[in-house]
Amino acid sequence: MNKNYIKFGAIIGTLIVSFSMLSSSNGPGGNKTGAPGSSGNCSGCHGNTPSNVGIIRVKIIDNGTQVTTYVPGKTYDLELNILGSEKIGFQLSAINDQNKAAGTISNNSSGTQVYNSGSQQIWGHNTPGSGLWTAKWTAPVANTGSVIFYVAAVLADGNGKNSGDYFNSFNVEITEESSNGNDNVSKSQNQLIQNPVGDQLTLQHPVKSAYIWNSEGKLIGKFFHSNQFEVGNIAPGVYHLNYVNENGSTGFARFVKQ
Ligand code: HEC
Repeated sequence: MNKNYIKFGAIIGTLIVSFSMLSSSNGPGGNKTGAPGSSGNCSGCHGNTPSNVGIIRVKIIDNGTQVTTYVPGKTYDLELNILGSEKIGFQLSAINDQNKAAGTISNNSSGTQVYNSGSQQIWGHNTPGSGLWTAKWTAPVANTGSVIFYVAAVLADGNGKNSGDYFNSFNVEITEESSNGNDNVSKSQNQLIQNPVGDQLTLQHPVKSAYIWNSEGKLIGKFFHSNQFEVGNIAPGVYHLNYVNENGSTGFARFVKQ
């Protein structure tokens, strides 16, 4: 056989081996968490209906107690609990409002891997499993503001193929603990009175102008010279509010619409 053919064969062989190493039994690779800045989620390939099968829970735990705010730089236990199948795969990404990795995930439990993809850090399965996965999460530096954990999961039938598998996703926000208790805004003289938000979005002080954006960056609403806005008709989810106070200073908040 011609030497070049042998070389070519070796290259193809290497490609096949590296491709199968990237294949989804070791996790799909890349960022398929569905977070802003990711390249979609798992549902394009694992799309059995209905979606949203099973239950996903994310817990940030400090000394055995679940918390909803973090202290900058502190290390927490991170628990991911997914119920609904014996063969589950997942990816998780914790990001700040720039869609970049917020904090650091380490000490991940067996059957999982942690790696960087673009400006985000991904924690994902490399062996499909069931139940509970754990890791450590070291919170980001002060003034990072809210962090959102995005999870995409496949509840598989274990046939080794991407057929017959159900998709589900989940996200949860954790706010930065600050000395003035002003957790949901960054460096502003104004703040949201309540978060998560029901039918009314209420700020402590009236604003000159305020804009509400959805997670895809689409403008959802605006209000002027008021501290209240009707949000009863917007879909549940995570939204971004930015505003100009009457005195010209600016602020933002991320809020969860229930
Ligand atoms: C580009 C298509 C594609 C994407 C996107 C994808 N997968 Fe897969 N996945 C596959 C294929 C193909 C298989 C079967 C072959 C294999 O295991 O490599 C598979 C297999 C699996 C299996 C084993 C299924 C079984 O029934 O045994 C799990 C679990 C899994 N993927 C989880 C995920 C998760 C979690 C995501 C999103 C974070 C994801 N996949 C995204 C293509 C994909």
